[in-house]
Amino acid sequence: MFKISVIGTGYVGLTTGIGLANFGSSVLCLDIDEAKIHQLNQGLSPIYEPGMDGLLKENVTAGRLRFSTDLTQGVQWADIIFIAVGTPQAEDGQADLSAVEATAALIGAHLNGYKIIITKSTVPVGSNEKIRAIIDDCNERGHPFDVVSNPEFLREGRAVYDFLHPDRVVIGVDNHRPVDTLKQIYRPLYLNEVPFIVTDLRTAELIKYASNSFLAMKVAFINEMSRLCDVIGADVQQLAIAVGKDGRIGGKFLHPGPGFGGSCFPKDTAALMAFAREKGMPLGLVEETIASNRRQKEFIVTKIKQRMGAVTGLRFAVLGLAFKSETDDMRESAAITIIDQLLDEGAIIRAYDPQAMKNAKKLWDTDQVYFGRDEYDTIEQADAVVILTEWNQFRNLDIPRIKSAMRQPFFFDFRNIYQRKQMEDYGLVYECIGR
Ligand code: UDX
Repeated sequence: MFKISVIGTGYVGLTTGIGLANFGSSVLCLDIDEAKIHQLNQGLSPIYEPGMDGLLKENVTAGRLRFSTDLTQGVQWADIIFIAVGTPQAEDGQADLSAVEATAALIGAHLNGYKIIITKSTVPVGSNEKIRAIIDDCNERGHPFDVVSNPEFLREGRAVYDFLHPDRVVIGVDNHRPVDTLKQIYRPLYLNEVPFIVTDLRTAELIKYASNSFLAMKVAFINEMSRLCDVIGADVQQLAIAVGKDGRIGGKFLHPGPGFGGSCFPKDTAALMAFAREKGMPLGLVEETIASNRRQKEFIVTKIKQRMGAVTGLRFAVLGLAFKSETDDMRESAAITIIDQLLDEGAIIRAYDPQAMKNAKKLWDTDQVYFGRDEYDTIEQADAVVILTEWNQFRNLDIPRIKSAMRQPFFFDFRNIYQRKQMEDYGLVYECIGR
């Protein structure tokens, strides 16, 4: 049984720890955040993630999964150490590596035998070489070690599923020594013929940025098509289906929306842009993806104003605040930009999200935004409903009840989850995007 420590219990670290324990290793998840570790030790996950609670309890009960704040002991106990601490966006757009570097120094200072150090955090190209140099510097007794880049491709809301069913496992190394161990800890995947791509450190690091930027570009592209469809009276939904049927393009990530958000696409496109510029090789498509996403959010507000006129004093019921459904995460959510813009222009905001209320209340206080108890409380006396997140529970709203509780019948569906005819039959003024 491998002894694995995972440093950092955010989305990536926690999912990795639970997933690897589930694959049979003995895992110790470490974090400096005592409250988080305390909560995890009670068997409670600090994030909302489908399937996580069950798997967490199962592996704790089986004795394969533990949590601790003692990083030093965690480093010394383990044969394999995953670095999964945050890499937030610094002011210049690049990833802030201070937590990764501090972790590398701590690992180096406490090495007590051969260990494999694996980076899960999304780090710019060249970072693993830096990590190796830092560990080397702090490794006074000269213990042998290997550094591996093993980027994670999990989606929030599908994190556990994606960990257990990846499309590929990417392993970046500077020598072959750790590869077999990596295959062993991911054995169930290897046996299930998930492709393992073994490459050099830099390529592995870049694969993560390239994948996320390409997906972000795909979303930005379909959003641009939705804006054009709006103007010319075409149907982006049918367009996406037809275009996506081309096997070279593929139908996934072609759903128009209010603009992509989350902890990855905005941060990773910005980091890749800044990194490439610094290397003297600016990436036009990536830069335009970022600008295009900004325009999509502006387009949403413009569309509301085109339909309703000035928004001052109007009551908006915003349904959905998380950057997508099945998560409580509001990082870079389009809802933030759109709500702030409406507030700036004097609108009154009422808001509701099935999971993100706690995070939303940190962004706006209750004087600025009224937080509804549920959908129906939120739409009371509203002039307009604005759907920004595609939660399943918003797909089956009691429309007659909504219509009769509203002050004016404007209904903006920016995730295209309703049909125009059905909504107009109920007497609503219905707007979506690109249909
Ligand atoms: C993403 C990547 O999918 C994942 O592989 C990577 O490891 C982390 O970043 P995540 O940020 O959790 O995952 O969400 P994702 O489902 O990819 O959605 C990102 C954003 O794009 C969301 O705001 C979502 O609403 C938007 N989106 C996605 C669309 O608007 N349309 C789509 O068709 C797909």
